[in-house]
Amino acid sequence: AAVESAPAVVVGSGYGAAVAALRLGQAGIRTLVIEMGRLWNTAGADGKVFCNTASPDQRSMWFRTRTEAPLATFLWLDLVNKDIGLYPGVLDRVHFDNMSVFVGRGVGGGSLVNGSMAVTPLRSYFAEQFPTVDAAEMYATYYPRARAMLGVNSVDPAWFESTEWYKFTRVSRKHAQNTGLKTTFVPSVYDFGYMQREAAGTATRSALGQEVIYGNNQGKKSLDKTYLASALGTGNVTVHTMEKVRTISRANDGTYVLTADRIDDTGKVVETKQYGCTYLFLGGGSLGTSELLVRARETGTLPALDASVGAGWGTNGNVMLGRANHLWDTVGANQSTMPVMGIDDWANTANPVFAEIAPLPMGLEHWVSLYLAITKNPQRASFTYDSASGGVKLGWSAAQSAVSSGMAKKLFDRINAANATIYRYDLFGSSNKVFADDFTYHPLGGCVLGKATDDYGRVKGYSKLYVTDGSLVPGNIGVNPFVTITALAERTMARVLVEDTAP
Ligand code: FDA
Repeated sequence: AAVESAPAVVVGSGYGAAVAALRLGQAGIRTLVIEMGRLWNTAGADGKVFCNTASPDQRSMWFRTRTEAPLATFLWLDLVNKDIGLYPGVLDRVHFDNMSVFVGRGVGGGSLVNGSMAVTPLRSYFAEQFPTVDAAEMYATYYPRARAMLGVNSVDPAWFESTEWYKFTRVSRKHAQNTGLKTTFVPSVYDFGYMQREAAGTATRSALGQEVIYGNNQGKKSLDKTYLASALGTGNVTVHTMEKVRTISRANDGTYVLTADRIDDTGKVVETKQYGCTYLFLGGGSLGTSELLVRARETGTLPALDASVGAGWGTNGNVMLGRANHLWDTVGANQSTMPVMGIDDWANTANPVFAEIAPLPMGLEHWVSLYLAITKNPQRASFTYDSASGGVKLGWSAAQSAVSSGMAKKLFDRINAANATIYRYDLFGSSNKVFADDFTYHPLGGCVLGKATDDYGRVKGYSKLYVTDGSLVPGNIGVNPFVTITALAERTMARVLVEDTAP
């Protein structure tokens, strides 16, 4: 296999990776980005790059024959999932024992499939989770920098109050208010000016056209439109797609050697490539980076990695649930896919929960109020190497998930009591399940800042090896995580480019 080398290699192209690529490129350092998914820039036969949630096709999921949407059923009928062809689709669901993790695949990582909510955590909770990071500097410099670069904006409150597309949110707000709970608007990287034009009928519908977890064709400022576009604009950054990095080792001269499997559209490995670099930035996300480093330590290619590599993993306390509304409390057939409000009960120290008011856009009235709760679940798990498969296992138990659903239940029992409503039992499979606590959208940890790395993401035991993604976050951040991941990566790059790359 031919060896190709670059001064810097970035693994992955999600938030942490995109920040690294841009800042390296701006510093004049030639950088190669290696991403296992596709570049999503080519329209299919229907003229669209991505498919919607109503009629998913092969583009929806990463090498599946049937979609695996978070909502399994509706009225206990398997109406939600569809048979599809095998293809490197944009959304993956990675199955571990007792926990499955949704992640994006493609240039832009999770930004291609996520709900765009761009939330800055409570400063006190950030300080609790990152005691060694200067919170004042984060909130004065790196969070604002991340928000500006990501293109964060907010829904116009007057439009929000009047549009049919957010009736579902207003109904859930009313129920929270009836319970004496606080609600708060959440900012977004979906362009609300564009959304208003969608509603007015002057722009092609995307958020208002049931597009979200399988990608948005319009309106969303995913990383390929922001950080990665700027990175390519520096002229110093190249992206290789459909290549999965498998091993990392170090040559005698201290440079890094990577092997990567290039796959075709059927998933077949068509070539194994070798790359060399001086600086290596890992941005494969909590799952990708943890797997690479645990494998490197356990197979002996990077034996000096810290024992805490692979540890400190959590779900951000995610739980999805639905409530059944009274017949007169209609949520509307028309729902925007982009959430804009959360129920904020984080200050309730006995049971801290931040619950996003989530849409369920099915094109018909269903009387469901859907939520994605983020609970302050303190449970953590570790990745271990599985020599049989060459992959990793995750030691997460159902009892650990039950901590999240127990916290969500406490909050939503109050909301149901105050509104004389009940849960929906038909959404998450046939077993009358109310709380979907066995999947997460927010995998965090596995290479925790200050434990597996120094306080700036430099991996312990090796020089010029960095982690910039969600694996740095210790299992929970109390809100949707991508703004925090981006801001931490900005902080790492600012430091590394000053201290580590001087000639
Ligand atoms: P990220 O997962 O974004 O990127 C990693 C990339 O590396 C991927 O493209 C992957 O294919 C690639 N990769 C991994 N291993 C590799 C290897 N070995 N070789 C090559 N490439 C490799 N967050 C939020 O703040 N607001 C929200 O509204 C939502 N909503 C939401 C909805 C859904 C459906 C999902 C799945 C997720 C969210 N999230 C979210 C979570 C958010 O998207 C997530 O936290 C970030 O994308 C994580 O960013 P990272 O940089 O850690 O990795």
